[in-house]
Amino acid sequence: MSRRYRIAVIPGDGIGKEVVPEGVRVLRAAADAFGIGLDLAEYDFASAEYWQRHGTMLPDGWFEELKDRDALFLGAVGWPDTVPDHVSLWGSLLQFRRRFDQYANVRPVRLMPGVTSPLAGRGPGDIDFYVVRENTEGEYSAIGGRMFEGTERETVVQETVMTRTGVDRILRYAFELARRRERASLTSATKSNGISQTMPYWDERVAAMAAEYPDVAVDQYHIDILTAHFVLHPERFDVVVASNLFGDILSDLGPACAGTIGIAPSANIDPERRYPSLFEPVHGSAPDIAGKGIANPVGQIWSASMMLDHLGEPEAAAAVLRAVEEVLAGDRSALTPDLGGEGTTASLGAAVAAAVKGAA
Ligand code: NAI
Ligand code: MG
Repeated sequence: MSRRYRIAVIPGDGIGKEVVPEGVRVLRAAADAFGIGLDLAEYDFASAEYWQRHGTMLPDGWFEELKDRDALFLGAVGWPDTVPDHVSLWGSLLQFRRRFDQYANVRPVRLMPGVTSPLAGRGPGDIDFYVVRENTEGEYSAIGGRMFEGTERETVVQETVMTRTGVDRILRYAFELARRRERASLTSATKSNGISQTMPYWDERVAAMAAEYPDVAVDQYHIDILTAHFVLHPERFDVVVASNLFGDILSDLGPACAGTIGIAPSANIDPERRYPSLFEPVHGSAPDIAGKGIANPVGQIWSASMMLDHLGEPEAAAAVLRAVEEVLAGDRSALTPDLGGEGTTASLGAAVAAAVKGAA
C-alpha cells in the first residue's frame, strides 16, 4: 500500500449508527479499488449513550486521541429524549470544530440524477455550486451579556466579531475553490446596507482578495435577495462565500433546493492541515426513522467522497461520486423511501459499493 490514512469513525446517535457503516463500506470499496490503505478506529463517544454512562459527551483525553488522525468521519449527534440538544452539540461537534480550527464549512449543492428538486423545472446539472461558510467567528461570538435583568431597563447585547485573519482565510479558501472550478465565479453574501460596521469590512476584504484573483469573477448580493435568488435562479451560482450566520442559513437552503436532506454532505475543514478535518452528512440523527433501516446513506457516502478528496485521493473521490450518480439514476426499487424507493439503508449502500468496484 502506497498511501495509508488514519481515520476516526464516530457514528454518534440514531441513524448516524445506520448510515456510518454504509459510508465505511463504500470507503473500503474505494480503498480496495484504488490501492489506498485505511486504518479505521471507531469511537462510541459523542453520543447520548456515552453521555448516559459518563455524564459527558467526550472523554478527557479526546483532543490528544484524535488530533493526529488524518480525518474524522462522523454520523450524527443528538438524541433530545435523553440529552438536551445544546448539551450534545456544544459538548461534541462544536468542540471538534473549534479546537481543530475547522474554519471552512463546505457544502456542495448539486441536483443529482434521480432526485426531484422542489424547484419546478430543474433537472440534473442545473444546480451545481458550493456554499463556503466561515465556521469560527462572526455573528456566533461569546461576546455580549445582559444588564438590569428583570427590570424595565433589561439590556441584551451580542457582538459580531470579524478579524482580518478570520475573514481573509475563509475568503482565500473560497477564492481557491472557485479558481479550481470551470466557471471560476464567486458570490459574496453581504448586508452592508443594514449592518454598517462588520459587513462593509467584509466587502472591503472581498475586494482586496479579488485583486489577488483576477481569474475569478466576483459578485455580491445582500443576504435577503440572495436567498430569493437561491430559489429563483440557482443556476447562477458557483462558489458562494458567507459569514457564520449567513452561511448557516444558505447552507441549509442550498441543499434543500437540491432535493432530499438525506443526500447532502458537508465538510468542516482546516485548510492548513494542522488538525484533522471532519466529514459528516448535513442531516441529524432523525429519531423519527431511527432503528427502521430506511435512512438514506447517500449524505454519509458523499461525505466519504469529500474526505477522500481532502486526503489527496481525487480519483477515488470522483469514483464514489460517479457511483452515487449511477445508482441514483438507476433502478428506483434499490433506493430508500425518501427517494421514492422500497430499498433499505444497507441495500442502497451495497449498490453504491458495487458500483465503485465496477468503475475501478
Ligand atoms: P434531522 O436531520 O435528524 O431530521 C429532519 C427530518 O429529515 C426527519 O423527518 C428525518 O426523518 C429526515 N431525515 C434526516 N436524515 C435523513 C436520511 N438520511 N434519510 C431519510 N430521511 C432523513 O433533524 P432534526 O429532527 O431536527 O434533529 C434530530 C437530532 O439530530 C437533534 O438532536 C439535532 O440536534 C441533531 N442534529 C445533529 C446534526 C449533526 O450531527 N450535525 C445536524 C442536525 C441535527
Ligand atoms: Mg444549520
